[in-house]
Amino acid sequence: MEFNCLKFMCLLQLLSSLILVLASSIEASVPSTASAEIISRFQHYLQINTAQPNPHYYEAVDFLISQAKSLSLESHTLEFVQGKPLLLLKWPGSTPDLPSILLYSHTDVVPSEHHKWVYPPFSAHIDDDGNIYARGSQDMKCVGMQYVEAVRRLKASGFQPLRSIYLAFAPDEEIGGEDGAQKFAQSEIFDQLNVGVVLDEGLASPGENYSAFYAERSPWWLTIKATGAPGHGAKLYDNTAMENLLKSIESIRRFRASQFDMIKGGLMAEGEVVSVNMVFLKAGTPSPTGFVMNLQPSEAEAGFDIRVPPTADPESLEKRIAEEWAPASRNMTFSFMHQVTVYDKSGNRLITKTDSSNPWWTLFEDAIQKAGGKLGKPEIFPAATDSHHFRKRGLPAIGFSPMANTPILLHDHNEDLQCNGQLRLTDINFDLLFLNQDEYLKGIEIYESIIKAFATYVENGGNKESKAEL
Ligand SMILES: *[C@@H]1O[C@H](CO)[C@@H](O)[C@H](O)[C@H]1NC(C)=O
Ligand SMILES: *[C@@H]1O[C@H](CO)[C@@H](O)[C@H](O)[C@H]1NC(C)=O
Ligand SMILES: [Zn+2]
Repeated sequence: MEFNCLKFMCLLQLLSSLILVLASSIEASVPSTASAEIISRFQHYLQINTAQPNPHYYEAVDFLISQAKSLSLESHTLEFVQGKPLLLLKWPGSTPDLPSILLYSHTDVVPSEHHKWVYPPFSAHIDDDGNIYARGSQDMKCVGMQYVEAVRRLKASGFQPLRSIYLAFAPDEEIGGEDGAQKFAQSEIFDQLNVGVVLDEGLASPGENYSAFYAERSPWWLTIKATGAPGHGAKLYDNTAMENLLKSIESIRRFRASQFDMIKGGLMAEGEVVSVNMVFLKAGTPSPTGFVMNLQPSEAEAGFDIRVPPTADPESLEKRIAEEWAPASRNMTFSFMHQVTVYDKSGNRLITKTDSSNPWWTLFEDAIQKAGGKLGKPEIFPAATDSHHFRKRGLPAIGFSPMANTPILLHDHNEDLQCNGQLRLTDINFDLLFLNQDEYLKGIEIYESIIKAFATYVENGGNKESKAEL
């Protein structure tokens, strides 16, 4: 009896502590009014359908202008190509001669296959765990709005930047950025902004560390073509187009395996190796029922998506292509459908330094730490972003999206790709999920810290705070 009674008391205690735990977790998951407003603004931006190939750019720009007005920021809509607005917001610094800070983001998102989504991609649905589901939640409407919210907080705190701060919301990143970032970075307007440093997108990371990117791999889209004497399908003879092409494919496969082994063996990160993937194979003589089966064709062609890190040796790779992958001695030719250089205007590699020689990097690292964030080892972005348009000008650009503890789940369907050959692989694969609202709110504090550090930094002393940070 006594024993039973004790047991009962234990149960009661357990129950009451459970209720307490439950109550506190409910409290924690109900955001304050300010947070609720921040999240609701983020949802609003996410709900605007800016999916390629028909993004509602003006709707996004109108919404962002209304945000700019509420913050008394100057706004300019630039249209390098008609129908593709780039919105530029300005928070003037008190020392406007100092190089400015550019907070860059793109407004478009990749198309979605609606039926594969748990929640519709423009619903911005928030589930019980606080996960916000939308196309663009990770790439990269989160970052664009986090900049805005960080500015809002800084303004509310009475902060005054020394350097001018620009926020750019650009179109068309998902289809290569030619009519967006590229034209912007090459414009006179851009020259006048006197930009000193650029922040652009990174990737979510599943662990506690934030990811940051100091470079990206350059796409080389290679086609190789073999020719050879046609002949009967029953005859064995040397130097057919198919045989010549297959020799190349074997050689390319060996190279691919050697690169992949370095990742598998933990010697290199994904962005540090040259990746090569065969993306098409074109050969055969068509017949009404498919292909002629007893004829060896005179031509055969294959296409490869190669990604070259700026740390690689592009000259030796080109030599390998010419001598091993498509040698003229084997009656082969090659051409690039697209080949992005790994060098900037002055012949330097497209790399933003991540050591003490780059004060922006030091400020960036310290600012994240100050705000309670953890930064992993800086990486090379495995695919392309708009950052390279700025690095090409010789500007430091850091790829960063403050999303830790956030899964990057791979999407195994690639129907999106077929809509537009220019779509970027990472965007297709990585932006299908959600972002947790707490992670989003935390990211705003991180940006607040970074912007503060960047905007008060003075190169040759003069500013105590930034000196202390260095
Ligand atoms: C290349 O083409 C020429 C002319 O068709 C042919 O004589 C030669 O055998 C071919 N060589 C190879 C390696 O395919
Ligand atoms: C986080 O980053 C630090 C510094 O680069 C590193 O030492 C640590 O191993 C990282 N942690 C994880 C879980 O990756
Ligand atoms: Zn993106």
